[in-house]
Amino acid sequence: MTDFKTKYGPWALVAGASEGLGAAFAEALAERGLNLILIARRLDKLEDLAQHISNLYSVETIAHSLDLADFKAVKTFVTQRKESIGLLVYNAAYSPIGYFENISEQSLEQIVDVNIKAPLLLSKLVSTRMIERKKGGIVLMASLAGAQGSPKIATYGASKAFNSVFAEGLWNELKKYQIDVLASCAGAISTPGYKNAQNTKDAPGTLSPQRVAEDTLKALGKGPIIIPGFTNKLAYFFMNRVFPRKWAISIMDKNTKDLT
Ligand SMILES: NC(=O)c1ccc[n+]([C@@H]2O[C@H](COP(=O)([O-])OP(=O)(O)OC[C@H]3O[C@@H](n4cnc5c(N)ncnc54)[C@H](OP(=O)(O)O)[C@@H]3O)[C@@H](O)[C@H]2O)c1
Repeated sequence: MTDFKTKYGPWALVAGASEGLGAAFAEALAERGLNLILIARRLDKLEDLAQHISNLYSVETIAHSLDLADFKAVKTFVTQRKESIGLLVYNAAYSPIGYFENISEQSLEQIVDVNIKAPLLLSKLVSTRMIERKKGGIVLMASLAGAQGSPKIATYGASKAFNSVFAEGLWNELKKYQIDVLASCAGAISTPGYKNAQNTKDAPGTLSPQRVAEDTLKALGKGPIIIPGFTNKLAYFFMNRVFPRKWAISIMDKNTKDLT
């Protein structure tokens, strides 16, 4: 834990921290002694989380409402911070469900802004300072939905593929500065977002947000990709290494067709 704080502290920026996995990341980081900058749109939820964390851990917290789709505002906020950000956890995502023909252009732009543009440019912003300090970490949330074409969430899946492939390249580039980059390729997580979208019972291998946050943080510094959970690792192996691509997409289609 002390090593983690030395390597990735003193402050972590958690983007998309108001509930679910983002809140679990925040608490797991507080447990490791990192101070927290928590951003999302819903300030009341962020403030409740900050209060909860302050009651349990001796760390400082800053809660700030920001729309990550507005990168100008995000950049202004981050560049004005005096706190030294040693870790970025980019957790936020926008995942409208529906067939491409029914998704509006505005929604498609929002996917690009929240799931691709913001993690990309925030990584640029924080890594510039990490390179000067020769330490730090970047965690990007990806998804098994990005490991093959995913009908009904095709654009979301592709945006998650961007994050894992980007993280792999960046992992290699930044290791010479002792900066660790990791994509967490999660399967189903029992977050409020997932529960809203899931019509039927949880998918096999569904994990709690706490478990995904722990597995991910434990994997930081060990390689470019983590797939939390044994069932998910197995699914990834079969979908990507064993089955023909067409089969993998059909299996995904069966899994996503009931999402609403
Ligand atoms: N849940 C799953 O089954 C699953 C599976 C694989 C991967 N993942 C990945 O894990 C991550 C978390 O998933 P989740 O289910 O917890 O997602 P979520 O419920 O949709 O919310 C994630 C967080 O992001 C914030 N957020 C969303 N849009 C934002 C915006 N425009 N500006 C600022 N904050 C924004 C939300 O807060 P506000 O609404 O307050 O802004 C919330 O705190 C995502 O990257 C997702 O792709 C999830």
